[in-house]
Amino acid sequence: MKFFIDTANIDEIKRAQDMGMVDGVTTNPSLIAKTGKDFETCLKEIVETVDGPISAEVLGTDRETMVAEAKKLVTYGEQVNVKIPMTVEGLAAVKTLTDLGIKTNVTLIFSPNQALLAAKAGATYASPFVGRLDDIGSHGMELVSDMLQIYQNYDYATEVIVASIRHPIHVKEAALMGADIATIPFAVIQQLAKHPLTDIGIKRFEEDWKKVPRT
Ligand code: E4P
Repeated sequence: MKFFIDTANIDEIKRAQDMGMVDGVTTNPSLIAKTGKDFETCLKEIVETVDGPISAEVLGTDRETMVAEAKKLVTYGEQVNVKIPMTVEGLAAVKTLTDLGIKTNVTLIFSPNQALLAAKAGATYASPFVGRLDDIGSHGMELVSDMLQIYQNYDYATEVIVASIRHPIHVKEAALMGADIATIPFAVIQQLAKHPLTDIGIKRFEEDWKKVPRT
């Protein structure tokens, strides 16, 4: 499973890169806002740092505006793909951008039918928001399972990016289901590496090592 990091924070991206955990990056307007930097500075820094796919989101709501924004976004780097919200206008934008050879990531997917439409429009990536579904009492990972089945049934090339990940169980389930990509916040990437028995084991080895006679 490919790991994208779900952040616009350049320090987090570099730290995750050091661990070999960054195949790509996803951003959204909220993540950009968190950095306190302007959008252009942020995206330029990420493009200079990461070779893999980088999602940058449009803010327009009609097809023409989204397409115009997308054309600008891809000038930042050839690895940039354009995040388009899952709406009727968004699908029209995805269709236009696909015809132009511009890669897209359809975001804010909450149902299997929305996922089907994203693939039919030619989306490169489709992002189901599992955490936000869990938040309202739905089962987010069920959506991922449905999407993978639908895409497999019809051989769609669209890759599933499991998004809105909140904890390691989401990552484990995504991997067991065979999701193409998980986009993971840095804090969760760190959590994945941790286990209390690992820490206890290290401590015990350190303590026992002190008992080994020195020559
Ligand atoms: C990534 O593509 C999404 O924008 C992100 O995972 C949303 O996460 P959130 O629901 O925690 O805001």
